Amino acid sequence: MSDSRTSADGGMETSYGFREVPTGEKQGLVNEVFHKVAKRYDIMNDVMSMGMHRAWKDAMIAALNPRKEAGYKVLDVAGGTGDIAFRIVEASNRQAHATVLDINGSMLAVGAERAEKKKLSDNLTFVEANAEDLPFQSNSFDAYTIAFGIRNVPRIEVALSEAYRVLKRGGRLLVLEFSEVELPILDKVYDAWSFNAIPKFGKAITGDAEPYQYLVESIRKFPNQENFAAMIRMAGFSRVTYTNYTGGIAALHSGWKL
Ligand SMILES: C[S@@+](CC[C@H](N)C(=O)[O-])C[C@H]1O[C@@H](n2cnc3c(N)ncnc32)[C@H](O)[C@@H]1O
Repeated sequence: MSDSRTSADGGMETSYGFREVPTGEKQGLVNEVFHKVAKRYDIMNDVMSMGMHRAWKDAMIAALNPRKEAGYKVLDVAGGTGDIAFRIVEASNRQAHATVLDINGSMLAVGAERAEKKKLSDNLTFVEANAEDLPFQSNSFDAYTIAFGIRNVPRIEVALSEAYRVLKRGGRLLVLEFSEVELPILDKVYDAWSFNAIPKFGKAITGDAEPYQYLVESIRKFPNQENFAAMIRMAGFSRVTYTNYTGGIAALHSGWKL
């Protein structure tokens, strides 16, 4: 159930939105998208999701229920501009430590600036690295979170096995991602919004529609709830469950390293 597959000429291919590209090329294309949108990323999140991403992220943190103790360590992968890590630190009464890891320095720079303004920097570390090759020792973190990040990673199964490796025994994986809409009328409205409105808003706000075309296409290519749960189990996680948000527009998957 891998995202990568073999092409007619024997090379490995994966989806970049609706296009098939060699697996080795996807990351460069994704990086271009996030370099372009970094400065407008937060405002576009509110526009694209009509503010709903905030409620979904709050629900993710409520599900995590971070321990309010100084030794509690979370790794937030594809952490971008810091939304998840900030919420974790705040929910732990500023006790927990969160490492924000992202492959894109432009996104991390915005995150570090926001952290300074919120006076959260003491509880945060920013690391530029690839989710497929985490620069941490095995069994290091109490929790691994990734929000709206995993569908951008070329080899999802590699990222999941890295997640499993760096978690401590008893550690928790939480993945928030766009998913398959399971309500009949909502899916039509959502399609119209995604394919017509989002690229236009993207162009109006950032001057470029292409990154937003990729974002909406990549959502449609991502495995549905059950298939993604199966990938998480394949990586070794136990007690894998998911919860739909807003009729399945987003879903939170949970697994444990037991
Ligand atoms: C849609 S943003 C999500 C940011 C943040 N988690 C949030 O919810 O607002 C996706 C992020 O994934 C990052 N990303 C893409 N591929 C990655 C990889 N292989 N390793 C780490 N981060 C990656 C991008 O740079 C981008 O910051």
